[in-house]
Amino acid sequence: MVWVSKVGVVGAGQMGHGIAEVLAYAGLHVVLEDVDAKILGRAMHKIDEILHERVSAGKMTEAEKKEILGRITAADSLQSMQEADFVIEAATERLDVKREIFGELDRITKEHAILATNTSALSIAAIGAATKRPQRVVGMHFFNPAHKMKLVEVVPSVATSRETVEATVELAEKCRKLAIVVKDTPGFLVNRILTPVLLESIRALEENVASQRDIDLALRAGAGFPMGVFELADLVGLDVALEVAETMYRETGDPRYAPPPRLRRMVEAGWLGKKSGRGFYEYGAPEE
Ligand code: 3HC
Repeated sequence: MVWVSKVGVVGAGQMGHGIAEVLAYAGLHVVLEDVDAKILGRAMHKIDEILHERVSAGKMTEAEKKEILGRITAADSLQSMQEADFVIEAATERLDVKREIFGELDRITKEHAILATNTSALSIAAIGAATKRPQRVVGMHFFNPAHKMKLVEVVPSVATSRETVEATVELAEKCRKLAIVVKDTPGFLVNRILTPVLLESIRALEENVASQRDIDLALRAGAGFPMGVFELADLVGLDVALEVAETMYRETGDPRYAPPPRLRRMVEAGWLGKKSGRGFYEYGAPEE
């Protein structure tokens, strides 16, 4: 894909900074944008930490780390996307927010640029309809933590062109990810399967079937999960998990996706998982 020389990432939160690192690691020049200077500063720090881990493990030299960091430019406005050939949006998981961003990106970016969204469950068709180029709008769904999880779901809407899908798969593969093409349905594929597992685990907890720790242990030791489902929910963010379940329930009406009261109450209490210092488990101080 010779035409992609610069990739833009919109939103420097948990997923945005991970995606920026993956792209830069693959040799691409990246502009990482966030309107919040604090989030942007923290993102650059976290990318440094992720790469430092690699250096400490003897899998990268300090010079390579510097080179990768040198390929990432931080920016505080969407205007910075002017030169991007491919933009990946990883902002708040709300349709109105994403549609507004895509409308602006459509005005700002080059005509040929592909606009991808890292949404977990929202309709790609609805996001694409906020632009005049729905044929070049696509879902590109990374998994948390983006630098370690190998899968990327590529999600074309009914309006997405074959060329856009091919270019997105090619970009994912350049990032050393495994790409699968998935239909534009609520939750796509992984969240369609994983969300009921999380929600059923919370229901089992509400019914006192077993303790929280034992449910996590059961999934690790009895089902081969790399981490417990509550540990995973804390990593992903309970607000994100709730938002995904709500979207899937709203769109399908399927009771399997109905968020259990405990999850809603925890989010209302500000218990968002690792990032807030407390979720299903306690982590001490919130992440700075
Ligand atoms: N840059 C690029 N690649 C890197 C990297 C870096 N800085 N650091 C690591 N990697 C890659 C490497 O290929 C590495 O293998 P290598 O070290 O042999 O080269 C590979 O990642 C794995 O790294 P680790 O060995 O450090 O990973 P661990 O064995 O410690 O596993 C884990 C950590 C992958 C997080 C594992 O615990 C796990 O799979 N947990 C479950 C996470 C999960 O399910 N996530 C999905 C959540 S759902 C979601 O995100 C959807 C959303 O929409 C809600």
